[in-house]
Amino acid sequence: MFPQIRMRRLRYGKLKNMVRENTVCVDDLIYPFFIDENAAEKTEVSSMPGVMRWPLSMAVEAAREAYDLGIPAVLIFGIPKTKDAQGTSAYGDNDVVQTAVRRIKTEFGKDLIVITDLCMCEYTDHGHCGIVDFETRGVVNDVTLPILGKIAVSHAKAGADIVAPSGMMDGMVEAIRIELDDNGFKNTPIMSYSSKYASVFYGPFRDAADSGFCFGDRSEYQMDPANSDEAIRETELDVLEGADILMVKPGMPYLDIVYRIKQEFGMPLAVYQVSGEYSMIKAAAEKGWLDEEKCFFEACTAMKRAGADMIITYYAKEMAKILTAKNHKLSIKPSK
Ligand code: PBG
Repeated sequence: MFPQIRMRRLRYGKLKNMVRENTVCVDDLIYPFFIDENAAEKTEVSSMPGVMRWPLSMAVEAAREAYDLGIPAVLIFGIPKTKDAQGTSAYGDNDVVQTAVRRIKTEFGKDLIVITDLCMCEYTDHGHCGIVDFETRGVVNDVTLPILGKIAVSHAKAGADIVAPSGMMDGMVEAIRIELDDNGFKNTPIMSYSSKYASVFYGPFRDAADSGFCFGDRSEYQMDPANSDEAIRETELDVLEGADILMVKPGMPYLDIVYRIKQEFGMPLAVYQVSGEYSMIKAAAEKGWLDEEKCFFEACTAMKRAGADMIITYYAKEMAKILTAKNHKLSIKPSK
């Protein structure tokens, strides 16, 4: 007890760095980016300053920016030229994601891990993550599953190292696993968006990926932000269906979920710092209310502390720059 015990003894200089329990490193980072088949040049997403939509012709360049900073993995989203009710532009061999992946893998081979977001919402004209029954205005789960399997195979064929289903359909991991296995992709891991909440923090993403919906919302398939036990059940099912990597999304408002999932399953776990988290920090920084660098650094460190192994963040490149800057210390602003 005080005065013999003094917590402050270890909180200075190099000693503080030595007793640090959690750190973020470049190997933890996944850089998400958007490839737009309609774009002729790269354009900034208005609600996410600093985040670009890249034309297909620049897919390799987009990936190179991450690669050059030592980031081990990218997560690719596609914006197709055409959309329809069935999302048919999601699984053609020459569609936007497949083409981008093929080019990126040809360029970087095993030196860059390519993860593909596997969902229908960017490819359907109604913007939902599956086939819609327009009578009931609901997404029909079981009819959607074979399409997800087909998308997975097309991504793997193009060279994707990992597929990441994000649509929150029941049974999607199993359906995808079976399709991948049957088509010779037994070794392609599935990173499942296993606890994905129906979150308002995805708002800016809808601008970025052009995936706003024309009616309703996603609350009939994504999870209720009020629930925590449900995340355990959701995740357990994905584990049983064959997920190799789990995910919690969003990140910062859901660190209790990150903690529980890591404790409960002890499996590789990704956390997605989503568009709204990014835009909040950006906006506050632009107003001069927050120190941007320290803010995203602290947010990512908190995710590691909660139990994340990997962090998907639009700040990945900025993070990597800081982390590789010589003699970086969390407590000291990196030299510019
Ligand atoms: C669905 C998908 C979404 C995000 C990633 N994959 C949108 C949604 O579920 O509504 C959100 C990512 C972000 O907000 O940064 N394909």
